[in-house]
Amino acid sequence: MSKTYIELNRTGDKMPLVGYGCWKVDNKDCEETIYNAIKTGYRLIDGAAVYENEVEVGRGINKAIKEGIVKREDLFIVTKLWNTYHHKSHVRPAFDRSLKDMGLDYIDLYLIHFPVPIKYVDPAVKYPGGWIEEGAKDIAYERSPIHETWAEMEKLVDDKVARNIGVSNFNVMALLDLFTYCRYKPATLQVELHPYLQQKRLVEWVQKQGIAVTAYSSFGPASYVSLNEEGKTAKPLLTHEVVQQVASKYGKSAGQVLLRWSVQRNVAVIPKSMNVDRLKSNLDIFDWTLEQQDVDAINQLEMGARFNDTVTYGFDLPLFD
Ligand SMILES: NC(=O)c1ccc[n+]([C@@H]2O[C@H](COP(=O)([O-])OP(=O)(O)OC[C@H]3O[C@@H](n4cnc5c(N)ncnc54)[C@H](OP(=O)(O)O)[C@@H]3O)[C@@H](O)[C@H]2O)c1
Repeated sequence: MSKTYIELNRTGDKMPLVGYGCWKVDNKDCEETIYNAIKTGYRLIDGAAVYENEVEVGRGINKAIKEGIVKREDLFIVTKLWNTYHHKSHVRPAFDRSLKDMGLDYIDLYLIHFPVPIKYVDPAVKYPGGWIEEGAKDIAYERSPIHETWAEMEKLVDDKVARNIGVSNFNVMALLDLFTYCRYKPATLQVELHPYLQQKRLVEWVQKQGIAVTAYSSFGPASYVSLNEEGKTAKPLLTHEVVQQVASKYGKSAGQVLLRWSVQRNVAVIPKSMNVDRLKSNLDIFDWTLEQQDVDAINQLEMGARFNDTVTYGFDLPLFD
C-alpha cells in the first residue's frame, strides 16, 4: 500500500490523496451521495460556496457522523471563498455562511477559489454571486487586493475556525507575490491537472515550496462536454487508446489509471462521481503502481489543453496567460 495522504505544512495535517469533488453534484442527490462517499471510505470532501450545494453536503457529512460511520476529526473538509467575497469585510461573513450551511464548526482547508476579485453581490440579493451579474456581458471587478483577502484568511486560522488555508487557480507569479507578505504560507494549491495539461514546472516548483498540490478535473474534458466547445470537441481522455492500453495491462479502469498517474506525482485528486461503482473504484488506487514506461506513455499526451478557462466561458479574461 503506498502512502494515502500528504502532510501539510505548518499543521502537519494529513490531507488524503483522494477526495470526493462536489462540483455539479445536484441538490436532489447530494446528501445521499456525500453520505455514501463517506460510507465508501472517502475522508476528504472538496466543496465550494459556488457549487450551490453546501447545505446538502453538510447534511451528508452530519448524517455519517451521527450514524457513527466517522468522527468529525476523521474527515478533511475543504471549501472555497468565492470571487465576490474577496473584500476584507466580506471574507469572514462568506466563511461563516459556508460553515453555517454545512452545519460545521470548523473547516480543514479553506481556499481562495480564484485570484479574481469580483464586485460584491449582497447574499440577501443573490447567494452565491456568480462570475457576472444578471444581464451583464462581462465580469465587473472590485479593487480588493489579494494581500488583504489573505490577511483575512490568516485570521480564520488564528481564530481556529480554519485549520489550513490555501489557494486555487493561482500561478507562480501570484504565489511569489503572496510569499512577500503572508504570515502563513498556503498549505495547498488546487489547479486543473490531467495528462492533457500536466503543468510539470508549476507542480514541481510549488511542491518544492512545501505546498501540496491538488489536481482538479483529473479526467480532462469529461466534465466540460456540456460547458464549452473545448470540452465538447477534445478527444475524451477516459477512452483514449493510450490510457485504455495501460488500463488493460493492469486490469484497472481508465479512470483509475488517470488518478493513479496523478498520485504517483504526489498530487492529490478529487474525482466526482454519482455512480456507486465508479465512486468505489476511484478510491482503489493505492495497492498497485504504474511502471515508468506507462507513466512516460501517458506523459506523451500533453497538449496544453485547459478546459476550466475563463475565456472559454465567453469572458474577456485570459486568466492563465
Ligand atoms: N478549484 C477549481 O476551480 C475547480 C474547478 C473544477 C473542479 N474542481 C473540483 O474538482 C472536482 C473534480 O473535477 P470535475 O468535477 O471537473 O470532474 P472529474 O472528476 O474530472 O470528472 C467527473 C466526470 O467524470 C465521470 N467519472 C468519474 N469517475 C469516473 C470513472 N472512474 N470512469 C469514468 N468516468 C468517471 C463523472 O461521471 P459520473 O458521475 O457519471 O461517474 C463525471 O462526468 C470537482 O467536483 C470540484 O470539487 C475545482
